[in-house]
Order: sequence, then C-alpha cells, then structure tokens
Amino acid sequence: MTDPGQYSVAPEERLQQDCGMSLRPYEIAEARHRILNPFTEDKLDLLGEVCHPSPGARHLDLACGKGELLNLWSSQYGVHGTGVDLSEVFLTAARERANELNVTDRVRFIHSEAATYASKRAEPSTYDIVSCIGATWIGGGLTGTLDLMRPLLRPGGLILVGEIFWNTTPPPEAASALGLDNHPCVSLAATAERIEQSGFELLDMILANPDSWDRYTASQWWTISDWLRDNPDDPEVPAMRDFLRQCRTSHLEYGRQYLGWGVFILRPAIPLPNP
Ligand SMILES: C[S@@+](CC[C@H](N)C(=O)[O-])C[C@H]1O[C@@H](n2cnc3c(N)ncnc32)[C@H](O)[C@@H]1O
Repeated sequence: MTDPGQYSVAPEERLQQDCGMSLRPYEIAEARHRILNPFTEDKLDLLGEVCHPSPGARHLDLACGKGELLNLWSSQYGVHGTGVDLSEVFLTAARERANELNVTDRVRFIHSEAATYASKRAEPSTYDIVSCIGATWIGGGLTGTLDLMRPLLRPGGLILVGEIFWNTTPPPEAASALGLDNHPCVSLAATAERIEQSGFELLDMILANPDSWDRYTASQWWTISDWLRDNPDDPEVPAMRDFLRQCRTSHLEYGRQYLGWGVFILRPAIPLPNP
C-alpha cells in the first residue's frame, strides 16, 4: 500500500515542470516576506515561548528559507544554529538578517539540498532541535522527512515539523487546484496518527488560521503585481502572471477554507516494554 505520507513531486519541482522555472517564482513572490510559511510574527514568537530553547542549544533547520526562526531564536534564546536551503536568494537574506540581529557568531547558513545534508553531511546525534518548517517534500513526505531528522537528534532533543492538512474534507477538485496532486494531504487527526506511527510523541502544536494564511499567501499578490509592472520585459512575465492568477484563485476558492497548516512539536516516543 502506498504510504499516504509519501509524495514524489514538490510544489517547486511541479512548477519547474509546468513553467520551466524552479525556486524563482517563490523568490519573486516572497521577496517581502521574512517568514516563508503561514505563520505571523506572533505565532513564531509563540513557538519560541512553547519550545523555550536553552542557551547554546544546537539547532539544525532544514529548508530554512530566510532563516527567521534560527536568527530570532539565536537572538532571543542564544541558540547555535545551522540553516540549510537550496535558494541562494533566501540564504543571502538569512545572512543579512543574522547581521542585523547581531548573531553571525552563532548561526550559519549553508547552500545544500536538505535531504543530502541531513543524510550525508550532518553529524548524527548532535542536535537539540531539528526542524523542517514547511518543506516535507525533502524526505518524500512527512514520514520520510521524520526518518531523515530522527538520527540527527541528541537524546532529549525536539523535532519541529511544519505540515499541511485538511481542515475539513475538501471537494475533489481542491487538491489539484492547490497543486497537491502528489501530496496526499490528510486530516489533522490523521496527521497526528502518521506522526505517532513514525515513532514520535506529539507534544504540542501551533496552527495557522485563515488570517495568517492571508499574510503568507494574499500578501504575495501585491509583491508579484509590483514585480510584473517593474519587469515587463522579463522572460518569466507570462509564467508569473499565471502563477499570480493560480495562487489567488486557489487560495480564495479552496486554500483559505480547507487547507490547514501547523508546526508540530515532537520527540521520539519511548518504546513500549515487551509484554
Ligand atoms: C515554504 S518555504 C519554508 C522556509 C522556511 N522553513 C520558513 O518557514 O520560513 C520552503 C523552503 O524550502 C526550500 N527548499 C525547497 N526544496 C529544497 C530542498 N530540496 N533542499 C533544501 N531546501 C529546499 C526553498 O528554497 C524554501 O526556502
């Protein structure tokens, strides 16, 4: 049986196939974002309050985007962080933010494919926190990503994973409209079940809501619109016009109502004693 947590084509890759582009549409659309997920600053702060990392805690953030989580936690809690991402544009922003927050001695940002970094370059049993916030395609889905992350944790460490789920059962066309044909999204309860089946205990969670989704998604529309006006001769204009149209329609028709997202805070479950 196919693991419902597995899917093969990331939204970025799908877009690459559709438009001959890769991360570029996201780099354009999210140019004014610091947080590249449906969390507001308040929700990110709440995540810090809930996890309350210790000073000197070692944190690996896979697919770190602009590194806001690591930079903030380094500034607020004294975390020592490594962020890994494929986008040089986002990594440059992450390093600039580290400078701004005066944490360059505690964080570093590495250009690498995240699964390769996790499986080949990162030291096993090293990190107090391993996170992947909104990029579980790196491991072929939630289950595979948790498998990638687990060996990197120190005893007592935490995993933070950002994942989508359905708020309520959507109409059949919603998955396709949202670009989720290859990402079998499940309910919140089924997501928790998948986490447990992967050998983790779900300790807490912080969820996005329609307003925080708007801050992530709706706020991209203006950025893209400005980019289209400022770059009329760019060869990517037609694809970006389609991207804008599709992003706006799918959010209004389906995403805002049906799509949930949250950061799940986990630790490895204690194995049950043999009967
Ligand atoms: C939805 S964003 C989340 C970024 C960040 N975790 C945050 O919450 O702000 C997804 C990120 O994954 C990165 N990415 C996509 N595929 C990747 C891969 N295979 N390896 C590393 N980074 C990847 C993108 O460049 C982007 O920064």
